[in-house]
Amino acid sequence: MSENTVTIINNATGQQIELPLRNGTEGASVVDISRLYRDLGVLTFDPGFFSTASCHSAITYIDGEKGMLLYRGYPIEQLATHSSYIEVVYLLLYGELPAAEELRRFEAVIGRHTMINEAMRDFLKGFHHDAHPMAMMVGMVGSLSAFYHDSLDIRDPRHREISAHRMIAKMPTIAAACYKHHIGEPIMYPRNHLGYCGNLLRMMYATPCEEYEVNALEEQALNLLFILHADHEQNASASTVRLAGSSQANPFACIASGIASLWGPAHGGANEEVLKMLEEIGDVSNIEKYIAKAKDKDDPFRLMGFGHRVYKNYDPRATIIRDMCYKILEQKADSSNPLFELALRLEEIARKDDYFISKNLYPNVDFYSGIIYRALGIPVNMFTVMFAIARTVGWVAHWMEMMDDPDQRIGRPRQLYDGARLRDYVPLERR
Ligand code: ACO
Repeated sequence: MSENTVTIINNATGQQIELPLRNGTEGASVVDISRLYRDLGVLTFDPGFFSTASCHSAITYIDGEKGMLLYRGYPIEQLATHSSYIEVVYLLLYGELPAAEELRRFEAVIGRHTMINEAMRDFLKGFHHDAHPMAMMVGMVGSLSAFYHDSLDIRDPRHREISAHRMIAKMPTIAAACYKHHIGEPIMYPRNHLGYCGNLLRMMYATPCEEYEVNALEEQALNLLFILHADHEQNASASTVRLAGSSQANPFACIASGIASLWGPAHGGANEEVLKMLEEIGDVSNIEKYIAKAKDKDDPFRLMGFGHRVYKNYDPRATIIRDMCYKILEQKADSSNPLFELALRLEEIARKDDYFISKNLYPNVDFYSGIIYRALGIPVNMFTVMFAIARTVGWVAHWMEMMDDPDQRIGRPRQLYDGARLRDYVPLERR
């Protein structure tokens, strides 16, 4: 018996097989169970993927015990300190940090694709103004496959790359257009001399009537949030994109499915929910009441922005964001921001509470991100849209990696069927 195998015995039949253990460069080994059904006639059962690696990937690594996050091997703290978002985009897509000339060319390529087809503006007008911006995002991004079908040959690496560039470049334009539609202001065109985040801020806040100057600190804060949100390995939305893409669906449709998945409050929708929760708590004196609600098994309330499937330690992104909160609120002369104070106090109380300690529930990336978005003047229902813009590169990188894999097959999970046994149809008159 090799030490690089795991032996599985079916006690009912006495049959046993040895399954290979595979080691990555970091993290737990995986048991390759692909032969299990063929050789032993049984399936595995792991709803929620608690112990299942759904693919191999070289993009992002998380060590949940240590609270560590690496993009292509680089610690998130170093990227957050030294990089621009667009540099991180290049890193995630191509695997290496760009040299200066590569970065300049990449910025130019992304700049070339920032406009959206004019007809998309008419498409957007079809949405009622009070539609949730995420609902518009799902539709608008899905519609890219109707407007840009000249790059939809997924077997052609160049088509895949053009689609990737288009999505990354157009996402801020689409998001800002959804916002403008929502508030009834004219849609602003992109200005390509601005950086990725500066351009987004301008498209959201400028109007044709007045000059608009991008605030350097706001741009820096957005750049930081976007770096932290850029990828997070096989999370629900990235896995959704992979599963959709595994059927060879076009990349725009796949990313639209990722946006839909991100929208849920257990995932990217949490940043919106955190702000609503803080507003509902309202005052430090109410914190204990809400902590008690979160601990009550019969109450569906959860402390939003707390807990994570993989991190059983502090989410490193939350630490970085909390530090940025101090900086931005101070420079905006808003250092006594009541929601931030409430969030800090809530964290302090929860982290001393046995329930949260025993379940390893720490603040996640979304606990503080909303405070910054709010300080930047971004409305609460746009928070998850901001997340979607930043995460687009992660989804695209996963889709590209999967499409490049010669062993890629359609993702098709099995199930434990517990429905009715075989039975005969009963005619209507005898039911
Ligand atoms: N408040 C109160 N209790 C919680 C919380 C919370 N925020 N999160 C988890 N728990 C409890 C659960 O009730 C469960 O208790 P039990 O073992 O007694 O049944 C235990 O901790 C484990 O929780 P699960 O839901 O089983 O853990 P899972 O890994 O499936 O869920 C999740 C992770 C969805 C993030 C969860 O912690 C949660 O709902 N958090 C709030 C929403 C949130 O902040 N989501 C953003 C995640 S980060 C992101 O997607 C960008």
